Amino acid sequence: MGDRYALIGNPVAHSKSPLIHAAFARATAQDLHYGLIEAPLDGFAATVERFRAAGGRGLNVTLPFKQEAFALCSRVSERARIAQAVNTLVLETGFGDNTDGIGLVRDLSQNLKHEFSVVLLLGAGGAAQGVVGALLEAGARRVVIANRTGSRARALAERFPGALGCDFDSLPAEPFDLIVNATSAGLTDEAPRVPASVFRKKVLAYDMVYGRETPFLAAARSAGARTCDGLGMLVEQAAESFFIWRGVRPQTRPVLEKLRGA
Ligand code: ATR
Repeated sequence: MGDRYALIGNPVAHSKSPLIHAAFARATAQDLHYGLIEAPLDGFAATVERFRAAGGRGLNVTLPFKQEAFALCSRVSERARIAQAVNTLVLETGFGDNTDGIGLVRDLSQNLKHEFSVVLLLGAGGAAQGVVGALLEAGARRVVIANRTGSRARALAERFPGALGCDFDSLPAEPFDLIVNATSAGLTDEAPRVPASVFRKKVLAYDMVYGRETPFLAAARSAGARTCDGLGMLVEQAAESFFIWRGVRPQTRPVLEKLRGA
């Protein structure tokens, strides 16, 4: 059945990654199989080792194991080092990379064609940590990291020249042209409590969560902002992982269109 890859996380059952990688493999004539592995919360390293020993070639890593994956690698890319998190493992070499940030940036620039300079990033957990560096590198002049717990945002921002950390009540007055929700609030049908004034006509409100209308997106839309969920980011980060493993860059547009249509 070809070379074996998988997404490892907990939970993983509803992931679209197997569909995406199967479509990439078909389109590029690569002989591989991509599955799902739910690792016990206290058994990440052992599960990775079992998959590797059984011939597994590579893994994507999702919640809550990205930091643990980072610690497991013998060598990591610069962008994974900056994020201190790994979402792509090459098992033969022990190399780890992080394609989340570039996935977000490619979705913004290539699919959504949205230019940004002053970014409001909501959240300061693992998801936010993975994209700050990429946003700055892609040309953001300033990234304001706002978090319910302000101290976490300030600690994250300190690691990046060009970033500023604060809580939701002390946002700087400058107009944002991109707002990225990297909090997990949407998963429990809550929204980060940002003032509605941040949602302007020309702003793009982007939720890294995919497949559901989060209260964040609903609030942004009713205030007149352009909105988008994280499906494009998912497809783009998958394409970059596929490229790392196979040396072939799949086209993302047909896959994204198919998923959006479905
Ligand atoms: P992840 O890896 O998904 O980022 P995490 O590290 O647990 O997970 O971080 C969750 C993020 O969502 C944090 O920024 C958290 O804010 P706190 O640091 O204040 O806890 C944020 N978050 C979760 N639920 C939220 C809610 N209801 N409103 C606002 N922010 C929320």
